[in-house]
Amino acid sequence: LAPIVALILAFASASPAQDHPVYLDASQPVEARVEDLLGRMTVEEKIAVIHADTKFSTAPIPRLGIPRRWMSDGPFGVREDIKSDSWRAAEHTDDYSTGMPCGLGLAATWNVELAHDYGQVIGEEARKRGKQIMLGPAINIQRTPLCGRNFEYMGEDPWLTSRMAVGFIQGEQGQGVASCVKHFMANNQELHRGTIDVEMDERTLREIYLPGFRAAVREAGVLSIMGAYNKFRGQHCAENDYLINKVLKGEWGFKGLVMTDWGAAHNTREAAMNGLDLEMGTDKPFDQYYLAAPFLDGIRTGQFGMSLLDDKARRNLRVMFLTHMFDGSAEGGSLNTPEHQATARAVAEEAMVLLKNQGDILPLDAGKIKSLVVIGQNAVRKFEHSGGSSEIKTMYEVTPLEGIVTRVGGSANVNFSMGYAQPVENRPDRPPTATPEMPRTAEISPADMADRAVAAAGQADVAIIVAGLNHSRHMDTEGSDRLDLKLPYGQDDLIQRVASANPRTIVVLISGGAVEMDWLDRVPAVVQAWYPGMEGGNALAGVLFGDVNPSGKLPCTFPRHLMDSPAHALHAYPGVDGVETYTEGLLVGYRWFDAKQIEPLFPFGFGLSYTHFDYSGLKLTGGGNGAGGPVVNVQCDIANRGARDGMEVVQVYVQEANPRLPRPPKELKGFAKVWVRAGEQETVFIPLDLTAFAYYDPDEKGWIAQKDDYTILVGSSSRDVRLRSNWTLPQTTHFN
Ligand code: BGC
Repeated sequence: LAPIVALILAFASASPAQDHPVYLDASQPVEARVEDLLGRMTVEEKIAVIHADTKFSTAPIPRLGIPRRWMSDGPFGVREDIKSDSWRAAEHTDDYSTGMPCGLGLAATWNVELAHDYGQVIGEEARKRGKQIMLGPAINIQRTPLCGRNFEYMGEDPWLTSRMAVGFIQGEQGQGVASCVKHFMANNQELHRGTIDVEMDERTLREIYLPGFRAAVREAGVLSIMGAYNKFRGQHCAENDYLINKVLKGEWGFKGLVMTDWGAAHNTREAAMNGLDLEMGTDKPFDQYYLAAPFLDGIRTGQFGMSLLDDKARRNLRVMFLTHMFDGSAEGGSLNTPEHQATARAVAEEAMVLLKNQGDILPLDAGKIKSLVVIGQNAVRKFEHSGGSSEIKTMYEVTPLEGIVTRVGGSANVNFSMGYAQPVENRPDRPPTATPEMPRTAEISPADMADRAVAAAGQADVAIIVAGLNHSRHMDTEGSDRLDLKLPYGQDDLIQRVASANPRTIVVLISGGAVEMDWLDRVPAVVQAWYPGMEGGNALAGVLFGDVNPSGKLPCTFPRHLMDSPAHALHAYPGVDGVETYTEGLLVGYRWFDAKQIEPLFPFGFGLSYTHFDYSGLKLTGGGNGAGGPVVNVQCDIANRGARDGMEVVQVYVQEANPRLPRPPKELKGFAKVWVRAGEQETVFIPLDLTAFAYYDPDEKGWIAQKDDYTILVGSSSRDVRLRSNWTLPQTTHFN
């Protein structure tokens, strides 16, 4: 009898919960699974999930079946794998990924659906590569054109940034990986990024620098957010009580996790108390991180309560469940597919901004051109595998020269002349980006190089100079800012000379933002290509030869001179004694140029097309107070008067007649990208809700849409307003 009783007892004690713990049951609600797992964890295990165990992971806990959690840069694709104990490449053979155009290029498309597709590509590839958290999108506001990481960000406007970020995150997270929106916040320069203490008034914080992050949290449901290196009001951003505890988790109700930028924690008490949930980094042993042994000691000695640790662990577990770590996150996804490459190309095509096209010199007629010279190192240079954490190891990268040769090499005689080159010793590129031209450029003096290009230009039907910057120090890169807005390596002079030798000179700029263009009057055409990704050369050739009608618009003002920009005009940048006060306040980007009536070189929102669009029929309809719906529907007709199909970005700016507090002259509050066939017309609808009229009142600690008259401006750029009409808000509304 005894064995039978023992058997019965054994059965009775093996409860269903032990066989099938709630946390392993995918049919259970996430919160129930989180609580169940948390309840099973020791203090040490909880500590293990809140700090790194290698550069890009947290430790597995085999006892509980918790896998190692992987994260990866970044914003333009899934970065190559890095060695666990250094920043050198792991030299894996299966870590090639699709290289999308840079973030600023994505913003230049003004196409929210494309932002979604872009995020989806990265999400699918992350999944295939076994990464649960992707470190992007990067959405700091472009405050100065010098910031070394402007190419990663989405420009100067909070509304544009918000829309693109939401599209990106929804696309990426739809694949079951977590986005990590960064860098929260005010990481608006790379110079002194680890120490600079940013001061700004509350309105500027709320109206300019926070909206992108708020939209990421409130609208896109982003699962993680990265605390920046810099300080804000005296406290490091990754352990900033006001930003994280009060605003992010308090006001916005963020339920995901806050991680550090790499090495951005500085103090166990602040990290513990001020809302940091996951410490990542580079230096010192991982078990000595502020949120590792020192925090564990503090818990054991009673200095910190267990609820503090539980909250951090809970947030990490929640993200683990939501990224399906216990339910097969290693499965699915796809990598380097033709569809992903097609998306990279589509984004690059829509990102190109046609800045000038005198006499309709573009598009070039491939049937008529007999000879073409392509000039410039950027025509043969590869960019994807450089620039800092946003670098990507791609299987291929179509350079501008390759794209042009593929497009017209069969019918025209295409020559290449280097024209200018970065001195070899300064080049940071690593294999496989090194190109065969490197040894040759070392043997030719810069003067000879320029002379040869000028001579070649004189003999060709058309000269295309691919100019711009690269990802070297003091250009578009992490860890340093640009020193000025000039083109390096004698390019300004070269462009002038080539233009004199050949009036049909087209300038293509590869850069993460504005450059001074003292030669602008001398050339008939300029195309801004940003860093166009692995399909960039094909996209560029498509634009140059008219297969693609350009539709990109500037996501940032191009100033004539650096000192026209607010942070420089006011000598606020780069701060005094480690503190940088944003004295320009709300007047960032076009808001400043409008308020001070400064003529930019090219305004925010600007970009030409090969066709011409007429705007008409503005109608404002709606009413009500906006509760639960749009206050105004802006409607207008866009007619394509040219011979080519094309896309136009219709921009809606709002201006208040009698603001109670000073407001910028106008602010972007809506836009739509519309495809219109040649000779046809489309009607565009752009809804505006109450937030389009509101300003932040620091005394009330909330938003106010004030009873007042407003002008609704509809334009093709911030300086090309085509239609306007008045709208009255009949009552004042307060909201948060
Ligand atoms: C960058 C982050 C990046 C991290 C990990 C930091 O230096 O600022 O954007 O995600 O490194 O590579």
